[in-house]
Amino acid sequence: MNHFIAPSILSADFANLQNDIEMINRSEADWFHVDIMDGVFVPNISFGFPVLTAIKKHAKKPLDVHLMIIDPDRYLEQFQKAGADNITVHYEACTHLHRTIHAIKDLGCKAGVALNPHTPISVLEDIIEDIDLVCLMSVNPGFGGQTFIENTYKKIRSLKLLVINRNEGLLIEVDGGVGNANALALLKAGANVLVAGNAVFAAKDPEQAIADLKKITPDLLRA
Ligand code: DX5
Ligand code: ZN
Repeated sequence: MNHFIAPSILSADFANLQNDIEMINRSEADWFHVDIMDGVFVPNISFGFPVLTAIKKHAKKPLDVHLMIIDPDRYLEQFQKAGADNITVHYEACTHLHRTIHAIKDLGCKAGVALNPHTPISVLEDIIEDIDLVCLMSVNPGFGGQTFIENTYKKIRSLKLLVINRNEGLLIEVDGGVGNANALALLKAGANVLVAGNAVFAAKDPEQAIADLKKITPDLLRA
């Protein structure tokens, strides 16, 4: 597949959110990445349902909702109702991950599992067939604009091995510190969804920054 680009709304201008949403609508981006933080699972609070609903009102592309919250089961239906298309929960926040994944699918959403930088790929061994997306955190979750953790490449490669003959259509998303400097190497390693916050919104021309991340072609990947 051609890779997806998912700009992270966390780095958008919240006082002019509609402008930034329309920029993403116009751009070559594929999804909106929406970070929900509860101040407990991660040391930051972002926003909740009213903002998500407002984003949905204007967004013309799927909402990829990344839940950095404890006990996500309590809110899955509300997130779906507020407009989430993909719902990603953290492995570290789910006691009954299998149940949570199937609850997300029953709501008609794509089900994702995010792994913190220290969490090994091997924890997915017995759930890999059930999930649509794995989000590899390449920074410790909580904030935009952090430095990419290089060990992520190794994790992408182990995930690629795990999915062989078991879930080859799995979406492998990398989230945190992604930009022009590492996008090609990440795609070569096997990632197929790139989340980018700072690399898009701190750029002089965010729409062009998205186009630059999107234009990495299979030819470049083979080179
Ligand atoms: C971090 C969030 C990320 C963040 C990425 O906890 O999950 O989605 O917004 O931002 P950058 O691309 O700036 O690292
Ligand atoms: Zn995220």
